[in-house]
Amino acid sequence: MLTHPAVIRRVIWENDDTFTLTLDLTGVLPDFTFLPGQFNMVYVYGMGEAAISISSDPTRTGTLDHTIHRVGAMTTRLAHKKRGDMVGLRGPFGSSWPIDVARGKDVCIATGGIGLAPLRPVLYTILRERDQFGRIILLYGGRSPLDLLYRVELEKWANEHQVEVLVTVDRGDSSWKGHIGVVTALFTYIKLDARNTVAYVCGPEMMMKYTVDELERRGLPADQVYLSMERNMKCAIGFCGHCQMGPTFICKDGPVYPLPRIRPLLDRKEL
Ligand SMILES: Cc1cc2nc3c(=O)[nH]c(=O)nc-3n(C[C@H](O)[C@H](O)[C@H](O)COP(=O)(O)OP(=O)(O)OC[C@H]3O[C@@H](n4cnc5c(N)ncnc54)[C@H](O)[C@@H]3O)c2cc1C
Ligand code: FES
Repeated sequence: MLTHPAVIRRVIWENDDTFTLTLDLTGVLPDFTFLPGQFNMVYVYGMGEAAISISSDPTRTGTLDHTIHRVGAMTTRLAHKKRGDMVGLRGPFGSSWPIDVARGKDVCIATGGIGLAPLRPVLYTILRERDQFGRIILLYGGRSPLDLLYRVELEKWANEHQVEVLVTVDRGDSSWKGHIGVVTALFTYIKLDARNTVAYVCGPEMMMKYTVDELERRGLPADQVYLSMERNMKCAIGFCGHCQMGPTFICKDGPVYPLPRIRPLLDRKEL
């Protein structure tokens, strides 16, 4: 439950309302480790905490990245932070994307908006051992070309690591030559080897629901599909019930779930 102080070493604006904070852990949490998909509670002193996924490479030591979308009071206050400012950190919490189940198989990552942040550590991990995986397909959707996250890395993953990167936007602009439409429409352009593919899905709940429907239509067995869920968090350790979704507490049982565990809840709106 302890909150540790961490100094902001760098702030990168990914787009107009999303930024990545690099936090310095040296001397504070020198032994901090995490698994892809886990999150921290980031504390603004005197104000409160927000659950934020860790978006950096799990093998990097000394610093941690959190990519944050400004939506309300806490994330706006975080957006005003500068290099040298301090935030509190509690974590890491939650379950992780299972990587070992995908060894020897194809990987399909389907994501929208800020959902790419918790999946970036997956890409760092599997690209380090690229030859242990088959095809790696990244389907990614943003609101507009300027809203896309990690644009330099998207190109690098495609050009240097044979990742099949397919990007779509809701609204194009005069320079955009790519796809326009929802993430699920990108499935039209790929052929999946259903029995031999593991899928990781993260994004707005409606996007995940339609993506799961599409994967099921293409014959992917449910136990080869993993999703990351979001709910408002308070304690992050299974005490307060804030993150409850039906019978499960997302902070400790999730946020990453195998589809069979979460499928019955995906179709229900209020839980
Ligand atoms: C496990 C987990 C990982 C997360 N990872 C990230 C991340 O990497 N980057 C990031 O930007 N955000 C992430 N979030 C969401 C983030 O915690 C919320 O956006 C943040 O707490 C909002 O705080 P706020 O005070 O700025 O906005 P608020 O004023 O609290 O909320 C603004 C709006 O967002 C909605 N909202 C707030 N929190 C959530 C939530 N958790 N799920 C769905 N809707 C919510 C509110 O209902 C409201 O409509 C994550 C959430 C969880 C549970
Ligand atoms: S946030 Fe308190 S139980 Fe999950």
